[in-house]
Amino acid sequence: MDSIRIQGGRPLKGEIRIGGAKNAALPLMAAALLTDKPLVLRNMPRLADIATMGQLLAQHGVAIDLAEPADGVSGRVATLNAAGVDNTTAPYDIVRKMRASVLVLGPLLARFGRARVSLPGGCAIGTRPVDLHLKGLEQLGAEIELNQGYIVATAPNGLIGADVVFPFVSVGATENLLTAAALAKGTTRLRNAAREPEVSDLAECLVAMGAKIEGIGTDTLTIDGVEALHGADHEVPPDRIETGSLAMAAAATGGDVTLLGARPDMLEQVFRTMGQAGAVLDVEPDRVRVRCPRVVGVDVMTEPYPGFPTDLQAQMMAMLTRAEGASMITESIFENRFMHVPELTRMGANINLHSRSAMVRGVRRLTGAEVMATDLRASVSLVIAGLVAEGETIVNRVYHLDRGYERLEHKLAACGAQIERVSR
Ligand code: UD1
Repeated sequence: MDSIRIQGGRPLKGEIRIGGAKNAALPLMAAALLTDKPLVLRNMPRLADIATMGQLLAQHGVAIDLAEPADGVSGRVATLNAAGVDNTTAPYDIVRKMRASVLVLGPLLARFGRARVSLPGGCAIGTRPVDLHLKGLEQLGAEIELNQGYIVATAPNGLIGADVVFPFVSVGATENLLTAAALAKGTTRLRNAAREPEVSDLAECLVAMGAKIEGIGTDTLTIDGVEALHGADHEVPPDRIETGSLAMAAAATGGDVTLLGARPDMLEQVFRTMGQAGAVLDVEPDRVRVRCPRVVGVDVMTEPYPGFPTDLQAQMMAMLTRAEGASMITESIFENRFMHVPELTRMGANINLHSRSAMVRGVRRLTGAEVMATDLRASVSLVIAGLVAEGETIVNRVYHLDRGYERLEHKLAACGAQIERVSR
């Protein structure tokens, strides 16, 4: 199993190119199931989760072709053709690896009138049920049963538009309902919909495929179902979470890094909070330069977009471990997303947990240690801590990292970090 070995204490300096967004690419890939015409997705990141979604779609019968980009710098070009889908079951073996597999439910049900998708089960950061996905689809006329660990959904006469009010914001439920409603009969209104940029991007792609959607970017999406969708050619936006993670790594090490091919407009709240914590950010439409002469304590609360993302909470905490003063970090999205705290503490951080809040009192130094990654974002927070710590840090279980960060150690090494992957 691979580990990452880091000799800390060097400021990051240089330029890093941001890859395509994993969380945008996954629902876009699932949307290919909605049509029998090819969907071309550009700037696809090379990540384990993308490969898993490819595997899932392939076993449904989707033909996938991957090509290198003409410009040599952006991500790969995937052409997905779901003309030959012959299997509407998403098996446990794949779904258990990645919860986002549940995103095939809406498209399969809408186009084929049936789907059998394994229940994803729990994961390291909480129970993460899919009740909102299922209730919403039932409101569109689906009949849903749970049978032997599988969601068995049918809509023999097709889905029918309805008013769906989400009791709280869910990115995945909004995406599943959006794709399902695109082919439903009549009008669907999704209220209290997620406004995450990845949801808007999916909606834009669906529009390019012939869907009728209004209110993109707001919390009310109105979808007029159409008979059929066609193919499209769509570019995956840059990954805002990778951008934020690397910006925090640059700031935590007191470095000077320019992140290229980014979309700073998707990170306004993050950059505001980093600014309050002492970072200096020079923002241009497609790049951001990050410096940070000193880190000061700041309070952070995770919230649905446009608030501070839960997917950057662990990285922000790593940055604040050496701040002057204290920070209060409150996690409002997931009930168990502080798995990185004991590991950061082993490196010398001073963190006290009180229910959903963590009090981080800045310390003068962190020291390297052997630590264990527990989930995707926790693992990158340990890498950030390793970059600022004195001595050697070894981050184990880096398969979590590979799910969502492309060539992270190469990108950091190119900015002067002493970091390498070791196979043990
Ligand atoms: C997506 C992101 C993930 C991010 C999360 C929150 C992808 C592939 N993943 O996950 O990286 O951390 O948004 O920004 O895009 N919930 C329910 N019932 C449901 C659905 C959700 O109770 O049916 C709860 C969840 O347990 C969680 C909260 O709602 O506490 C938000 O989850 P949701 O927005 O659905 O997250 P995901 O779409 O799974």
